[in-house]
Amino acid sequence: MKRALTLLSFGAVLAFASTQLLAAGNAENGKQKAAACFACHGADGNAVDPQYPRLAGQYDMYIQQALHEYKTGQRDNAIMKGFVATLSDQDIQDVAAYFSSLPTKLDTLQGHIQGDK
Ligand code: HEC
Repeated sequence: MKRALTLLSFGAVLAFASTQLLAAGNAENGKQKAAACFACHGADGNAVDPQYPRLAGQYDMYIQQALHEYKTGQRDNAIMKGFVATLSDQDIQDVAAYFSSLPTKLDTLQGHIQGDK
């Protein structure tokens, strides 16, 4: 019985962890929260300056993961570390939902892959 309980609570923890990881944010809220990001990444997520990555149409989970990595320092970038510092997990889900919902301007990879002619 004790073992079953342990397994059960382990399962609950896993279920909780996965909902945390997979939770989809609210794009409308994300648009408001992303105002500070537009200067570099563009209001439509398509940065005009090539030094800033385009976020439009990127996978939601990828954006969330990247933001968590800037927060923990796993991705070491002084600019982004400052901008994610104040974002809660919910904020990260929401801004990721917003940017991933936008149409990308990359419709072909031609010329974007190293070695392309
Ligand atoms: C002052 C300019 C600036 C602002 C403002 C800014 N960023 Fe960034 N962002 C950058 C730069 C530069 C990089 C590339 C960093 C690197 O090399 O890892 C980046 C990278 C990213 C990435 C990783 C993209 C990828 O393809 O891996 C995400 C996601 C991101 N920013 C989201 C945001 C969000 C959300 C905000 C607002 C809360 C924000 N950024 C505000 C400059 C900025």
